[in-house]
Amino acid sequence: MTLSRTAAIRLVAPETNSVLSPRTAHGDAATMAEISAGLLAPQASTSPKYFYDSLGSHLFEAICELPEYYPTRTEAAIFARHGADMAARIGPGMTLIDLGAGNCAKAASLFPLLQPSQYVPVDIASDFLQQAAAQLRQRFPAIEITPLVMDLSQPLVLPQSVPIARRQFFYPGSSIGNFTPYDAVTFLRHVRENVGADGGLLIGVDLVKDPAVLDAAYDDAIGVTAAFNLNLLRHLNHLAGTDFDPAQWRHVAFFNDAESRIEMHLEARCALAVHWSCGERSFAQGERIHTENSYKYTLESFRSLLWDAGFRVDGTWTDDAHWFAVMHAVAAYA
Ligand code: AVI
Repeated sequence: MTLSRTAAIRLVAPETNSVLSPRTAHGDAATMAEISAGLLAPQASTSPKYFYDSLGSHLFEAICELPEYYPTRTEAAIFARHGADMAARIGPGMTLIDLGAGNCAKAASLFPLLQPSQYVPVDIASDFLQQAAAQLRQRFPAIEITPLVMDLSQPLVLPQSVPIARRQFFYPGSSIGNFTPYDAVTFLRHVRENVGADGGLLIGVDLVKDPAVLDAAYDDAIGVTAAFNLNLLRHLNHLAGTDFDPAQWRHVAFFNDAESRIEMHLEARCALAVHWSCGERSFAQGERIHTENSYKYTLESFRSLLWDAGFRVDGTWTDDAHWFAVMHAVAAYA
């Protein structure tokens, strides 16, 4: 399974901020095995979840500020223009569960409209999440804030502190595009199982468009996306004890029309070898590690994907150029 912004499971008690279940990503045997298997595969690959150490999370924030990276500002404009309509459809007083919350800024900007009674930001990057949650508690003392550090590549199991009634899942930014369509349906089915009878899902999706726009968004002029991609190698060195030298690699990104996805790779600048405690691999000059897919959908293909996961779409909002969409989905059947 491939996805972004997810890894180890640690549940944090909101009242104490203490760690309840200490299974960390660092040196974890399953993490080592997953990284090792990916590097040893004929087409080497890594999960995009390994982009998001602390520096990677900050680099992703920087990407969102780039003029070439249209998804963030386009989605923000959709929320600004249609947020009141979305809030009217959802109704106040829900538990807002923010999947891949990052710095929580997107959800927080919607608090005045959505008026949640509880906010559950879920993310891989523990320190980043705790900092963001602490700041939010000060800004919104009336909202119960319950951060959750967990691996969304595992079935989604929410703790009892998250009530079953009025669960509104929030999955903006088109992070769903970082799954293969097959894995996206599996992931959304897990969400559907947790939605309950009166809940819903507010989800952002990036739409198919001119490939030149897409290529630029993932290979920006000042190299922030390149740094984000290369930082993965530093993170792998930390997690798995590999001896990658980022200077020996270059960032490659392009739109694969047949698969309707952006692909990101790291390409060896010269013949080289990488070693770690339980393996090693030689790379020829020009050989690549596939580090991310970012699928782009049409409105129809995404509605059909949601339907396959057990959701019916009851609201769709887009920008004038139809570059990005936000959909609200509810259970298709009981
Ligand atoms: C997190 N995710 C939706 C981003 C995307 O656009 O697929 C990750 C990203 N990779 C490179 N730039 C942004």
